[in-house]
Amino acid sequence: MKKIFLNNDWSFSFDFNSDNSIPVRIPHSVKETAFHYFSEDEYQTVSKYEKTIFAPIEWLGNKVLLTFDGVAHYAEVFIGGKKVGEHKCGYTAFTLDISEHLVYGDDNLLMVKVDSRESLNIPPFGHVIDYMTYGGIYRDVYIEVKPSTYISDVFAKTRANGEIVSEITVFGDISSDMRITQSIIKNGCIEQFADVEAKGKVTVCGSLDVNPWDVDTPNMYILRTELWKGSAPLDVCDEKIGFRDAEFRNDGFYLNGKKLKLRGLNRHQSYPYVGYAMPRSMQEMDADVLKNELGLNTVRTSHYPQSHYFLDRCDEIGLVVITEIPGWQHIGDEIWQDQAVKNVEEMILQYRNHPSIILWGVRINESQDNDALYTRTNELAHRLDPTRSTCGVRNFRQSRLLEDVYTYNDFIHDGEKPGCEPKVNITSDTSKPYMVTEYGGHMYPTKSFDCESHRVEHALRHARVLDAIASHEDIAGSCGWCMADYNTHKDFGSGDRICYHGVTDMFRNHKLAAAVYSSQGREPVLEISSSMDIGEYPACIRGEVWAFTNADSIKTYKDNKFIKEYFSTTNGKFTSLKHNPILIDGFVTDADDWGGMSTGYRFDAIINGEVVSSVTKTPMTKGCLKVDAYKTTLIERESYDVAAIRIRAVDEYGNTLHFSSEPLVVTVDGPACLIGPSVSSLKGGMGGVYVKTVGKSGRVSVTIHTPNLGDATVFLDVMT
Ligand code: GAL
Repeated sequence: MKKIFLNNDWSFSFDFNSDNSIPVRIPHSVKETAFHYFSEDEYQTVSKYEKTIFAPIEWLGNKVLLTFDGVAHYAEVFIGGKKVGEHKCGYTAFTLDISEHLVYGDDNLLMVKVDSRESLNIPPFGHVIDYMTYGGIYRDVYIEVKPSTYISDVFAKTRANGEIVSEITVFGDISSDMRITQSIIKNGCIEQFADVEAKGKVTVCGSLDVNPWDVDTPNMYILRTELWKGSAPLDVCDEKIGFRDAEFRNDGFYLNGKKLKLRGLNRHQSYPYVGYAMPRSMQEMDADVLKNELGLNTVRTSHYPQSHYFLDRCDEIGLVVITEIPGWQHIGDEIWQDQAVKNVEEMILQYRNHPSIILWGVRINESQDNDALYTRTNELAHRLDPTRSTCGVRNFRQSRLLEDVYTYNDFIHDGEKPGCEPKVNITSDTSKPYMVTEYGGHMYPTKSFDCESHRVEHALRHARVLDAIASHEDIAGSCGWCMADYNTHKDFGSGDRICYHGVTDMFRNHKLAAAVYSSQGREPVLEISSSMDIGEYPACIRGEVWAFTNADSIKTYKDNKFIKEYFSTTNGKFTSLKHNPILIDGFVTDADDWGGMSTGYRFDAIINGEVVSSVTKTPMTKGCLKVDAYKTTLIERESYDVAAIRIRAVDEYGNTLHFSSEPLVVTVDGPACLIGPSVSSLKGGMGGVYVKTVGKSGRVSVTIHTPNLGDATVFLDVMT
């Protein structure tokens, strides 16, 4: 039987003891916050979620399993007033067998007491944390109705050559006429490859004719496991899987036997206004931004396991993932540590079939050595998943290496020092693999509305580190800090509760540094680091102008007069990237323009002799809005759907107007509503709007009104 989603028709009280409730849908955040300048105290509460579930009489005699995919951070679950279970950890799922607690043929009151206070004695709490932890039932809730004997787990260990070894767990009484079959579904055709006697634990092997999972060709298959009683099907379990060899060797990472330099960013799962509470399409969008817009092959899900929708998308598009247990620098007491070990177990059991995951992080991010704790986490991880390596992210050298890979947050680059440390300087065991899991971030916070020279330096720092990492053959790769700006605690950030560490802003609008990454990808990219307005600089001296591009060359023109052609290999500052940034020297660094008429510049990116992209910079005369919806068809499936609309102020050539703080008033017509306020403003020429469906189909128009840049309308189609 399919999952029965329970995401609608909840009532929610912010205060557990109050009867002041409002109707809500899941994903839900206990508190909708401001964009910035708000306090983490706002979501510290013990709240109450209630929902009536009708248990049809046909369910009687079956196992009724209730799953919560994510409740931040401590949940106690009650049915008909009786406690049926609890779960600590805001980042892993939990399942309760509620068969014995339901009244069949009748309504049952499901109540969840949710504690989102940071005083809880569980990871990541206990000291300061550089990200907000929010609260609420923020991932799916669903019921599965299973026969009394059912398949409770399938772990598929696969190889690139098509070998598969599945460990299948069957729960309940097993009779001698029960069998298990396994099939692979490819291109819609089912091919059965195993038929074995059912037992509590069964191992099934196969050798299949399949194509490997790779970052370029992420072939996915459905593995169907069926439990039979005689010829009657009892239960079926479908898992999406891929076949690949993911191996860390002393000199780097190998995917299917081929060395792959990992190039990625860290991702937090938070969004403006609603914190963690965003549905499937927003999770998918982030994976798409990382892979398709920023041209990356890797993401680190700092600092906790993230939504399966995000992971599913990484599987589908070929984005390699490093995932880790919740935590940030602090290790608590014994009870806390036991919970950390439990989190390792839950993370691995729940995520191990995702082919995109290549490494388990089994230490608390940047914590001190603790051999007792980390011996336990490593042993458990290896036992639950012998196919993957472990790592533990440190911020210091020569740490005790109990893991398979030394992962290090290398913040050495401060604008002057090298882009990264050599492996030998850091790791306590050079015979083991080594990877850089963070750089950048707090070393150079950068707002989209910072002055141009600051934004350029931000981009160059990312480029310098990437370049340095590329030059070290024995570094498996790197993940920069980080994908998007994020709301953070009072102890971090710029005082407005934002860490401006992203290469995108909180709406996922690209800052200049994003072009350093996207220009390493395949889609033609040409980004010029300067608006060419000399008045932005002291004494009108513009300084260096850089082109971030993957073109073969760039031709520059001043007032339509050809000046010079540049090749990516022609500058000495970057040596090792596939597409080194290009320094545009000479005519554009010239201060003689001061007091003269402003000039028009054109930059043409050439690939195979053809102009693939052209950038024109002239003084703007007319600004307008550029709006871009991630999806225009919204579908109510498990729950509501959300459209992210990214907004920019641009000039007539599409260049961002970096200092526009234009007010925005948003109106929504049709079956949808806004997330967040209807009045906001651009920041650094960029902004965003989230629109969510309300359970009805139809056409939605979202209009963004501005006083000076005109209006823009986006049309969305909602399907239920
Ligand atoms: C690291 C930490 C990250 C983030 C980053 C900022 O030390 O692991 O969570 O705070 O610094 O640069």
